[in-house]
Amino acid sequence: MTDESRPTPTPRTAAVIPAAGRGVRLGPGAPKALRTLSGTPMLIHAVRAMANSRAVSLVVVVAPKDGAVEVKNLLSEHALPERTDFLVVPGGETRQESVRLGLAALPADITAVLVHDAARPLVPVDTVDAVIEALRDGAPAVVPALPLADTVKEVEPGEKGAPEPVVATPARARLRAVQTPQGFDRATLVRAHETIAASGEGATDCAGMVEQLGVQVVVVPGHEEAFKVTRPLDLVLAEAVLARRRANDGF
Ligand code: CTP
Ligand code: MG
Repeated sequence: MTDESRPTPTPRTAAVIPAAGRGVRLGPGAPKALRTLSGTPMLIHAVRAMANSRAVSLVVVVAPKDGAVEVKNLLSEHALPERTDFLVVPGGETRQESVRLGLAALPADITAVLVHDAARPLVPVDTVDAVIEALRDGAPAVVPALPLADTVKEVEPGEKGAPEPVVATPARARLRAVQTPQGFDRATLVRAHETIAASGEGATDCAGMVEQLGVQVVVVPGHEEAFKVTRPLDLVLAEAVLARRRANDGF
């Protein structure tokens, strides 16, 4: 085949999974991503959630700094889809730094990237695919999100435990609680990391950095089961979700 007649390769999507956090809010113990849910490390649940999407051809796990070998061993010990490639890199001091290290490991032919918290082990594959579909439809940045149950107040933060004055009450109907995987055109996300992080700005999620570039981010429906395991009560909820899935599989 000549160069001209060769078809353009289909876009390859990779998932980067930041898993290098300690999990301070979960309390003492192993790094959060390595703690087990129903006997399987949270990280393995998260890796499976990404690899279950047929569009994801590579999963990059950003491991705890000293845990790359342990994570590689875990990946080889657990059953994972054959069609997916896996890479493990050591993480950094912040989530943003860990994501940047994961992006740096991507091969040249990857054009779209999902960034997914290891701490959201139970995201359904339909949510992953909804993010990928919006990317394929041309959005440069896509986040899954849900409407809020609680009303939100903006306050003037005071000393811990002291009454804090309320500054504003944003209209709840316009607010969304953002989850992962967040999906990006690779070049856009890399540019956000190069310019925003270098300026010392940063954001609490990847999409926040892309917004600071002036690029339009869109929201697609998230899922209740994509909640982040943050505090001890979240472990109870995650176990309950897994028990319900097992019960449903039985039918
Ligand atoms: N993360 C990371 N590198 C860091 C910090 C966080 O890869 N230096 C990852 C976590 O492993 C997690 C995701 O970012 O999958 C979301 O972070 P969070 O839920 O805050 O996890 P932790 O930082 O581990 O928890 P905590 O803030 O309670 O310590
Ligand atoms: Mg954290």
